[in-house]
Amino acid sequence: MADRPVAIRVAALRKSFGTHEVLKGVSLTAREGDVVAIIGGSGSGKSTMLRCINFLETPSAGTIEIGGEAVAMRGDGSPSDRRQIERLRQSLGMVFQSFNLWTHKTVLENLIEVPVHVLKTPRSDAEARAHKLLARVGLAEKAGAYPAFMSGGQQQRAAIARALCMEPRAMLFDEPTSALDPELVGEVLAVIKALADEGRTMILVTHEMKFAREVASHVIYLHNGVIEEEGPPETLFGDPKSERLKQFLKTVG
Ligand SMILES: Nc1ncnc2c1ncn2[C@@H]1O[C@H](COP(=O)(O)OP(=O)(O)OP(=O)(O)O)[C@@H](O)[C@H]1O
Ligand SMILES: [Mg+2]
Repeated sequence: MADRPVAIRVAALRKSFGTHEVLKGVSLTAREGDVVAIIGGSGSGKSTMLRCINFLETPSAGTIEIGGEAVAMRGDGSPSDRRQIERLRQSLGMVFQSFNLWTHKTVLENLIEVPVHVLKTPRSDAEARAHKLLARVGLAEKAGAYPAFMSGGQQQRAAIARALCMEPRAMLFDEPTSALDPELVGEVLAVIKALADEGRTMILVTHEMKFAREVASHVIYLHNGVIEEEGPPETLFGDPKSERLKQFLKTVG
C-alpha cells in the first residue's frame, strides 16, 4: 500500500570518510509499518547507512526525512539544526550489535534513564511503561537485575525494551543478533518478529537471511556503497538478478 505515510525517506545519500566514499548515493523509503532489511557483505556500508539515518554519522550529501519532516542540511550535507537532530533522533529507537546497556544500572534504571532525566516523564509513568515493555520482551522478572548477570539474549531484549521506552516512530537494528551465542539468537529474533507483526516500522541490518526473508517487506542489497539490487523478499531471495547478489546469497546461505 503506497498511501501509508512515509516514516523514513533517504535520498541520494553519500558519505565519505576522508577520501574513501563509503556510500555513493543510496535511497530508501520506509512507510509506516514497513520492515526494510539491509543486507550485504562486510564493509558494504550497511552500518554507515543506518548511522546516517540516526545522525550518528554526518552525511556528505543527500536528504533525510523523518515522519514527513526534512532534516535541515547545509550545503556540505551536514545537519544545520542541532535541536532538530536531537528531537528526531529521539523518535528513532536504535539497537546495536553490542547491547550498549549501562552496566552500573539495573535493567529498570536503564529503561527509565532517558525518559525520566531527559524527557522529564514522571518516574511512576516511566516505570509503569518500562515494566510493561519488559513483560513484552519476556523479562518481567529481570527489572532489578544488572546486565552483567544476564545472558546476551536477555541483555539484547532489554536493549530493545529500552529503545521502545522512547515510544519511537521507527526502530533501527544493526545486526542485533551477531554478538550472540547461536542458541540465544532465536529469542531475540522472536521479539523483533513480534514487533514487526504489530506493525512497527523498522530498518534492520542483518546477516540472518532466513529471518530477513520472513520478516521484511522490502530488502536492499548493498555492495560497495551502492544499492546493487532491491525488492520484495520473495524476488530478492527467490529470483535474484545480479550476479553479485547471487554470489553473496551462496556464501551466506
Ligand atoms: N568512522 C569511520 N572512519 C573511517 N572509515 C570508516 C568509519 N566507519 C566505517 N568506515 C569504513 O566504511 C566502510 C563501510 O563500513 P560499514 O561499517 O558501514 O560496513 P558494514 O556493511 O556495516 O560492514 P559489517 O558487515 O562488517 O558490519 C568500511 O570500509 C569501513 O572501514
Ligand atoms: Mg556493520
